[in-house]
Amino acid sequence: MHKKAIICGGSQGIGKAISLELLSKGYSVLAISRSEPDLKDFKTVEGVNTENRFRHLQIDLNSSSLVSSAIQEECRLNGPYSVLINNSGGPLPGSIMQATPDAFRKAFEQHVIANQILVQAVVPSMKSQCFGRIINIISTSVKQPLPGLGVSNTIRAAVANWSKTLSRELAPFGITVNNVLPGATLTSRLKQIIENKANTEQKSVSAIEAEMLSEIPTGRFAKPEEIASVVSFLCSEAASYITGINLPVDGGRTLSL
Ligand SMILES: NC(=O)c1ccc[n+]([C@@H]2O[C@H](COP(=O)([O-])OP(=O)(O)OC[C@H]3O[C@@H](n4cnc5c(N)ncnc54)[C@H](OP(=O)(O)O)[C@@H]3O)[C@@H](O)[C@H]2O)c1
Repeated sequence: MHKKAIICGGSQGIGKAISLELLSKGYSVLAISRSEPDLKDFKTVEGVNTENRFRHLQIDLNSSSLVSSAIQEECRLNGPYSVLINNSGGPLPGSIMQATPDAFRKAFEQHVIANQILVQAVVPSMKSQCFGRIINIISTSVKQPLPGLGVSNTIRAAVANWSKTLSRELAPFGITVNNVLPGATLTSRLKQIIENKANTEQKSVSAIEAEMLSEIPTGRFAKPEEIASVVSFLCSEAASYITGINLPVDGGRTLSL
């Protein structure tokens, strides 16, 4: 198995934590995002020089034709990849009634179409290795829609069903497909959601934070590294018999099983 991973949104937040976690496990990582990351953050992980194992591809996952050509070229020159992490920025928060049709189109392009293009590019070489890990970072909203996240709730359900369907097609080839569902995790995305809620509900940021924390049995927000360590397990040989699941990492917040 080639320890090579493509990590979408691998420059910040949860994706960055996954990049660092997999670098620490000896993977070579290609991180995708629109802006250049601060490369010094990826130079050394746990005292080991990882500079020559980290690369970055600057691309907008909303531009399907660019994603398609860039990823095919990438696989041809630097493949084969054994891990694909589908992850990028969440759709803008807001009520579903206020969402424009374009907001749904954009979210579909970025979260479903981009995933599909990436999967079609990496799966042939995963099949030839008889090993592959496709992990989609979605949201607990696939189990329990979250208030004030109209477009996000809608698009996450589409990704979850796309993923489940894919998992059944790819299982015979040693390729697993799973969804990790983060709860409230300390990144810029969470900050944006809290500020949006504070504005909409005319409350202070600290009041909104306290309300959110009161719904989390563990009483705290997640660290991005806590999501990354779960992803790392799903990438491993040890997780070979797990496929087609939604795995919440949410401190117990989701009310359903
Ligand atoms: N944090 C939470 O509490 C939480 C909870 C549940 C679910 N989630 C979901 O988990 C995912 C990651 O969240 P996060 O908190 O880590 O977000 P984040 O801190 O905002 O990071 C998002 C990453 O995706 C990249 N990205 C965004 N839009 C992109 C695009 N169009 N093309 C390419 N790259 C793009 C960003 O880099 P650039 O901006 O440079 O492109 C960045 O690297 C999101 O889908 C989010 O909704 C987060």
